[in-house]
Amino acid sequence: MKIVVVGSGGRLGGALARELGSEHDVTGLRRKELDLTDPATIRNMLGRLDFDLLLTPAALTKVDYCEDHVDEAMAVNAIAPGVMAEIAKSKGARMIHFGTDYVFDGKDPEPRKESDSINPLGVYGLSKAEGERAVLAVSEDFIVARVAWVFGPDRPSFLDSIIARAMEFEQVNAIADKYSSPTFSNDLAEIVSLLIKRPWAGGLLNMCNSGSCSWQEYAQVGIDVAAACGLPLRTQRVDAISLEEMGFQAARPKYTSMSVDRLTEICGRRPRPWQEAVTDYVKRFVST
Ligand SMILES: NC(=O)c1ccc[n+]([C@@H]2O[C@H](COP(=O)([O-])OP(=O)(O)OC[C@H]3O[C@@H](n4cnc5c(N)ncnc54)[C@H](OP(=O)(O)O)[C@@H]3O)[C@@H](O)[C@H]2O)c1
Repeated sequence: MKIVVVGSGGRLGGALARELGSEHDVTGLRRKELDLTDPATIRNMLGRLDFDLLLTPAALTKVDYCEDHVDEAMAVNAIAPGVMAEIAKSKGARMIHFGTDYVFDGKDPEPRKESDSINPLGVYGLSKAEGERAVLAVSEDFIVARVAWVFGPDRPSFLDSIIARAMEFEQVNAIADKYSSPTFSNDLAEIVSLLIKRPWAGGLLNMCNSGSCSWQEYAQVGIDVAAACGLPLRTQRVDAISLEEMGFQAARPKYTSMSVDRLTEICGRRPRPWQEAVTDYVKRFVST
């Protein structure tokens, strides 16, 4: 299968290009090869390529930056996905676009389902919500895969930074009152690889490791594994801090863990629990 990955320089895009590249003919496009702020450039560049499947993990992902750069956020996260979807449709190709748990307002502690209503709190979530709507307006047969708390070897994330901080400082903390579902980029790439071999089912699809945790619990598991692997940590305890105390510029949703029931049904297997994925990642990529 001929696959194009738009955003192959990112954390998720890097994993997708690598994993799928072992089995398929993959072309990865980084920002310097395709800038998503200009629809004409997208039409010109993507329109020239031949592909059966388009994967679009590229996005403006800096949540606070988006608050002050609304036009850029809307261009990259809201308008570009719709333009890419039109191109994919014109070629008779399939598309998997990547969305976010930040489309929810985070008021309901139950795991979010695909059928739940959305209500983004900030510019990032709003722009991503517009993007997923634009893709599905072009074709309901395309997939919008909502992911959350992505970690992996292609770009450092919260998990790497908490371990680095525990190696440098005697005290570290993480937010204890914000919950979601961590997602190992390599697991996600494997899921996509499996998904494209199964009977195709379009629409919204939650795509993360199974289970739910607070940022503090997530960090503590990472630190526990790093300690067990013998990393020279100055502390092995992650203290609690509240979302409010962090004083982020953009409002963040509190409860956005996601149900993987639909994904499990489509793939025929449940993604492994986030704790196993974190353990695997820290052992293989952080502690070596
Ligand atoms: N990371 C998370 O925890 C998380 C959580 C929920 C949802 N998501 C979603 O998952 C997807 C992948 O996220 P990620 O963690 O892989 O993010 P990432 O590492 O920030 O990757 C995003 C990629 O998009 C590229 N990009 C940004 N602006 C662009 C532009 N104008 N033109 C072309 N490319 C541009 C970035 O290029 P540069 O490297 O040059 O900036 C980067 O390579 C995104 O759709 C994101 O919204 C992520």
